[in-house]
Amino acid sequence: MTQAFTVAIDGPAAAGKGTISRAVAARFGFAHLDTGALYRAVGVKGGDPVAAAQGLTPEDLARDDLRSLEAGQAASRVAVIPEVRAALLAFQRRFARQPGGAVLDGRDIGTVICPEAEVKLYVTASAEVRAHRRWLEVGGDAARVLAEVQERDARDMGRADAPLRPAPDAFEIDTSDLSIEAAIAAAIARVEAARKA
Ligand code: DC
Repeated sequence: MTQAFTVAIDGPAAAGKGTISRAVAARFGFAHLDTGALYRAVGVKGGDPVAAAQGLTPEDLARDDLRSLEAGQAASRVAVIPEVRAALLAFQRRFARQPGGAVLDGRDIGTVICPEAEVKLYVTASAEVRAHRRWLEVGGDAARVLAEVQERDARDMGRADAPLRPAPDAFEIDTSDLSIEAAIAAAIARVEAARKA
């Protein structure tokens, strides 16, 4: 396939977006962009977040502390700044429309970055299930992990610019009671149907 084909995957923290995105990209040979990593890299860089977003480098994206709880919180805080979002927009749009197909996961891919995406998925799960999954990854105090997830949800859904919400035409996958295999199968079925359409 040489034309563009975009799979937009949005949803709250630890819902399974990353795992599903990687599996869909591998299955169809699409490029994959974890857009949360862009905001995490801006958040942990320090200094002026707008300047950090405008000057983001491959080294910033290769830092090994991007997956920490602190990086997630820092990302969510800089992500409310419209100038930070604007600085990251063109790169994400170009990535989305590259020849050969692309999967992008984040919070605003189907609503703002790529409203014309051929497939839009909204991957979600209860806050408790998501916090438990995050706790298995990072350990520590489980109550604190749940509070962190809830705080980040509130900020990501409540901000004025590009808040987290499903696009009107997004297909929802609730992974609270689904195995990861079943969630991946649901996503792949959706992409397959759109490719035949
Ligand atoms: O998906 P993640 O947990 O790596 O995202 C970290 C934070 O970055 C998230 O809490 C909000 C922000 N983000 C965003 O505002 N828009 C995106 N497309 C991706 C992430």
